[in-house]
Amino acid sequence: MKLNNHASGHHFLQIPGPSPVPDRILRAISLPTIDHRGPEFGVLGLAVLAGLQRIFQTRHPVVIYPASGTGAWEAALTNTLSPGDAVLMFETGHFASLWHKIAMRLGLQAEFVGHGGTDAAGLPNSWRRGVQAELIEQRLRADSGHAIKAVCVVHNETSTGVTSDIAAVRRAIDAAAHPALLMVDTISGLASADYRHDEWGVDVGVGGSQKGLMLPPGISFNALSPKALEASKHAKLPRAYWSWDEIVETNKTGYFPYTPNTNLLYGLNESIEMLEEEGLPKVFARHQRWAEGVRAAVRAWGLEIQCAEPAVYSPILTGVVTPTGVDADRVRRLIQERFDLSLGMGLGKVRGRMFRIGHLGDSNDLTLLAALAGCEMGLKLSGVALAASGVQAAMDFYAAHPQRASLQAVA
Ligand SMILES: Cc1ncc(COP(=O)(O)O)c(C=O)c1O
Repeated sequence: MKLNNHASGHHFLQIPGPSPVPDRILRAISLPTIDHRGPEFGVLGLAVLAGLQRIFQTRHPVVIYPASGTGAWEAALTNTLSPGDAVLMFETGHFASLWHKIAMRLGLQAEFVGHGGTDAAGLPNSWRRGVQAELIEQRLRADSGHAIKAVCVVHNETSTGVTSDIAAVRRAIDAAAHPALLMVDTISGLASADYRHDEWGVDVGVGGSQKGLMLPPGISFNALSPKALEASKHAKLPRAYWSWDEIVETNKTGYFPYTPNTNLLYGLNESIEMLEEEGLPKVFARHQRWAEGVRAAVRAWGLEIQCAEPAVYSPILTGVVTPTGVDADRVRRLIQERFDLSLGMGLGKVRGRMFRIGHLGDSNDLTLLAALAGCEMGLKLSGVALAASGVQAAMDFYAAHPQRASLQAVA
């Protein structure tokens, strides 16, 4: 089946995941598939499992699933909880809402808290701000009987471009002296924004392949803590394929209890090598710098950034709010048709109000400037009056902040 006609040049994949995949990773993935029970496989398995521990910044096991992030969400809940358990989840956007929906479907009592209300632009407050750790602390203090078994938050809310302070959530749980597990979705945060599994006391970290790891979609992760592993021994939600025990046991020799996604594991091995060649602190600083340039463009256009709290701007993507009366999705479609540039659409409650520019994966200053040029042309063609050139503002920012100098200045 022919999927599309030849178009000259690279397609600009500027959605916030799947992100552009580097050629090195594509080449690694194209190696011949090997016997997943043969001697070579164990070496690969042990290498990627150890590498993932370094990426998650943990000494504890990381489980790999041949599934998209949604599977790893479900696995986090079913491995640790029992039917009817209460969990506390924070509404930060569409992905927090989807995780909440999964918890409800699994028969958990999933309380969904948030900032509440809408702002002057008519956008939900919760979809423009990070997790309020004080609210979590307050809710846990009120739960003197410890009915709440887990607190679930999203590290980088991909639908809005807002991050959350996970260390503050940990402090809130500790301040309330509450034994709830802390589960964190870092599907779009991992390997682009700093994520410290052990230091932040996260019990289950949920990751995905198609964002900061720069892999195609198809594998996802649960990073565990000893407390999560202990909880899994008593958790009664039904699970078989997702069950950590057999996987963790088999992983000790680098193998899996099912047929693993061998070629994506080649890609993962290459991805870890690339991230470590650069060094994680530099990777994080690079994303911060890219994000700052993109935000300079949005400000120059005179448009609003979806994230209303500068302290929690996402280094991975920027949400751009279109003026009232301008359908953001029409702008996005026009840009895709005219300039072969894919942007993220507004999801759920912000559909039609904003579009998302991804600044992650195999990119550099010039690919981002080209993406911004596509946005600028598309906004103008859509009749949006722009205050000034965002491309010029981003060029000025990138020129004034070389990558190396920016490691101190922007990080
Ligand atoms: C923060 C976040 N959580 C969960 C998901 C769901 O993951 P998947 O679409 O891979 O199932 C995504 C996907 O974009 C995401 O960005």
